[in-house]
Amino acid sequence: MRKVRKTSKSKVIGRADELAHGQTKKFKLRRGKRDFEAMLVNYQGRHFAYVNRCPHVGINLDWVDNQFFTVDGRYLMCANHGAVFEPPTGECVWGPCLGASLQSLPLEIVDQSIIVRFAGAGEE
Ligand code: FES
Repeated sequence: MRKVRKTSKSKVIGRADELAHGQTKKFKLRRGKRDFEAMLVNYQGRHFAYVNRCPHVGINLDWVDNQFFTVDGRYLMCANHGAVFEPPTGECVWGPCLGASLQSLPLEIVDQSIIVRFAGAGEE
């Protein structure tokens, strides 16, 4: 029988000068044996990261690859049913998942490298 242990993992996902306001970058993370997709977001010069999964139905937010911002660059948007989210918090402020939030991933910037930290499960 395999023992599953919780671990905290980190991964460099970009550089602090890589994205301008309103730009995003997708990346993959692995939890246990499963990969999942997430996105790095630059909103007004600050960086945030979220799992690419809408709290409404649990599917990716982007129909067009890596397109998450509304046209005016004010909100993140789910292309499926139009939910919009506050970029700094991930909270849905309009749409079918009003009040729910995107799953955020903690970031740290070290020497211009953006590092994401997340809980993973490793098998022993
Ligand atoms: S799946 Fe995102 S709003 Fe419905």
